[in-house]
Amino acid sequence: MKIGILGGTGNMGRGLTVRWALKHNILIGSRTLEKAQATAKELEKIARGFYQSEMKGGIIGKLNADAIKESEVIVVTLPPEAVVSSLTELRQYMNPDQVVVSTVVAMKKRRGLFRCATISAKELGIGEDLSAAEVVQDLVKPTPVVSAFQTVPAAYLSNIDSVLNLDVLIAGDDELAVNIVSKLVRDIPNLRPLRVGPLENSKWIESITPLLLNAAVLNNLQEPSLRVVPWMPASYTA
Ligand SMILES: NC(=O)c1ccc[n+]([C@@H]2O[C@H](COP(=O)([O-])OP(=O)(O)OC[C@H]3O[C@@H](n4cnc5c(N)ncnc54)[C@H](OP(=O)(O)O)[C@@H]3O)[C@@H](O)[C@H]2O)c1
Repeated sequence: MKIGILGGTGNMGRGLTVRWALKHNILIGSRTLEKAQATAKELEKIARGFYQSEMKGGIIGKLNADAIKESEVIVVTLPPEAVVSSLTELRQYMNPDQVVVSTVVAMKKRRGLFRCATISAKELGIGEDLSAAEVVQDLVKPTPVVSAFQTVPAAYLSNIDSVLNLDVLIAGDDELAVNIVSKLVRDIPNLRPLRVGPLENSKWIESITPLLLNAAVLNNLQEPSLRVVPWMPASYTA
């Protein structure tokens, strides 16, 4: 698959790139072509060095608009405050056959702890209490949006030889788009996609991230993430 990553030069974009490059062609998007190309070169070297001849994909740098035009799946790894302005400009390059993945979490920090926040898009007539993924959906419709990866720390992904063993909660309204994103999650070894319902449930996924970060601050944990454990596991023997 061709996966374009908007803001792909950042922490989350870099992490997803080195994982997906094993199987997919990644187009790192940026506001600056030189930055995108330099990041692509650096990550291609890391990925090829690690995967060797197993690596089926490639990594190239593009302007965000070109990454969109040339991709089947577009992943939004932009800071929350950049989402509305960037997508308002970039949505003209999207088409309804593509799939957009929102990884965005809006948060604020107060007295050392994280709280949920929202993305303000009032001036565009977009509701105030929506999750980031729903704001992205309003901006890019009719291209379907799937919410995923909010609870996966970029540092885990970038650490290319770490075994992840994590769950990725996935919310979306378009069945085909959700299936495509679930497959992309499974393409990262030991990540498990867990569907949690329609896109409106993204607000619950997004609210887990500040809780995890507070758990890190208050309990001295490093980069906590999420694994849903069933009671009892099917394999359980007393
Ligand atoms: N970091 C994590 O562990 C993590 C985990 C889960 C979800 N997320 C979500 O992923 C998203 C990205 O997080 P991140 O830590 O990767 O962010 P980041 O590194 O701060 O930024 C990502 C990229 O966004 C672009 N950018 C920055 N300001 C911009 C602006 N004003 N307009 C347009 N583009 C801008 C930059 O790329 P160029 O300068 O190359 O254009 C930057 O490299 C966030 O929404 C976050 O909530 C992050």
